[in-house]
Amino acid sequence: PSSTPSGLLAPPLSSGILTQDELKKIAAYKAVEYVESGMVLGLGTGSTAKHAVDRIGELLRQGKLKNIIGIPTSKKTHEQAVSLGIPLSDLDSHPVLDLAIDGADEVDPHLNLVKGRGGSLLREKMVECACKKFVVIVDESKLVKYLGGSGLAMPVEIVPFCWNFTAARLQKLFEGYGCVAKLRTSGENGEPFVTDNGNYIVDLYFKEDIGDLNVASDEILRLAGVVEHGMFLGMATTLIVAGELGITIKNK
Ligand code: 5RP
Repeated sequence: PSSTPSGLLAPPLSSGILTQDELKKIAAYKAVEYVESGMVLGLGTGSTAKHAVDRIGELLRQGKLKNIIGIPTSKKTHEQAVSLGIPLSDLDSHPVLDLAIDGADEVDPHLNLVKGRGGSLLREKMVECACKKFVVIVDESKLVKYLGGSGLAMPVEIVPFCWNFTAARLQKLFEGYGCVAKLRTSGENGEPFVTDNGNYIVDLYFKEDIGDLNVASDEILRLAGVVEHGMFLGMATTLIVAGELGITIKNK
């Protein structure tokens, strides 16, 4: 058994090798144990959060959960929740949420996150900022020493107007860290990926640790043309990690 940061011993999850999707499902199901009847819930986006939304739908159908109101973080999750019969609302009607459950692309040792490789970072941040508790669910491959440390993208949502200009300014901002800024594309013809809000995404790739994340966050947000970035700093209250050796739960 592995030792969790909270000192609890976690039993091995299985004797065989679990797939990444199975680990995601295990983390998601664990998170849904935090859900109680009557809660207003932030419903995350992505392949991990999808398992949590499925599970909430299942428990509602079985009558084990009642009077849940879901606030989806993307059009895709909205569709999924509608198909499961989960009652939905929005932040205008429910500005304070009890709990949100969502995945992440990277998690550092301080529970800071990179999100948005699925493209839903703006709505995710708006919803998850409004939650009393934010439970993050990942498989162990998402753990990094520092954000940007996996060599994968740090997404920034920008307005389409003169996106090249904004992308160049973002790259310049972090040129000391070997930053390369790339417009996210979709489809065979390489059209820009368009977010649920009609915006574009520029993915930043760093060669080095960008250091103080709050400074980086402020500098990115100060650029005209930037809508939001995918660093979720100090927001997660609980992290659930599923790995081959068990489930680890870390609270802030
Ligand atoms: C979408 C997100 C997702 O939560 C993140 O990309 C993790 O996705 P997955 O659970 O599919 O690995 O931030 O904008």
